[in-house]
Amino acid sequence: MTGRASEDKALFDEWPERYDQWFATPIGKVIKACETDLLVDLLAPRDGELLLDVGCGTGIFTKEIFQAAAALSIVGMDLSLPMLQRVAHKTHDFRFSGVVADMLQVPFGDETFDRVYSMTALEFVADAQQAIDELTRVTRRGGVIVVTTLNSLSPWAHRRKEKAAAGHSLFAAMTFRSPEEMSRLVPGPVRIRTAVHFAKDENPHRARELERQGREEQRDTGAMLAMSWQRP
Ligand SMILES: C[S@@+](CC[C@H](N)C(=O)[O-])C[C@H]1O[C@@H](n2cnc3c(N)ncnc32)[C@H](O)[C@@H]1O
Repeated sequence: MTGRASEDKALFDEWPERYDQWFATPIGKVIKACETDLLVDLLAPRDGELLLDVGCGTGIFTKEIFQAAAALSIVGMDLSLPMLQRVAHKTHDFRFSGVVADMLQVPFGDETFDRVYSMTALEFVADAQQAIDELTRVTRRGGVIVVTTLNSLSPWAHRRKEKAAAGHSLFAAMTFRSPEEMSRLVPGPVRIRTAVHFAKDENPHRARELERQGREEQRDTGAMLAMSWQRP
């Protein structure tokens, strides 16, 4: 693992264990499946490619992407060393390397990666434009970039704003964006989709049905807002 760890504690340093535990709950598993489906569909990784996972956290989706194509190499990048350290447990059978770095200054040269993705990390960045420009810069021409973030149109964002107002420090650090705001960050054509069309406390069985309906109706209010584009 390489990189410059910040002197300050990163926002997520206390979260690694709780983070993984939550995705192992019955509703966490449904959410993980919904998010993975959409990510794999938009990213469509191909055998042998080199990918960058920006804000990879504990590697929940890194592992899912490794299973989506053969012989991938993935670089995971995160501000929090404790989050990044957990990725190793999940990816020891795969070609993974980790780096502590900020997505506002990605420490790689232009056009390094075939595909770049970032799952629910952009909401912790105030300057989304710089982050999007950095992700685009390190992607090869014709390569695909996928960014997902918490949708400001979803009931999840409303609830988090209420909790932030009541003093929840993690939620207070978040910026929620709408599909329209996200699409304005990229000059060319983008694909936008949403997933997770149910509440966090929903019954897992009913959550699957609500998800099916939300996708069928192509609602733009799912909690996970995904945008993908191709580097020109
Ligand atoms: C909600 S977690 C998501 C983790 C993982 N992508 C997932 O979906 O399970 C957000 C992650 O983004 C990281 N992060 C926040 N701001 C970042 C930045 N500016 N550069 C890199 N990583 C960042 C946090 O440390 C945290 O691990």
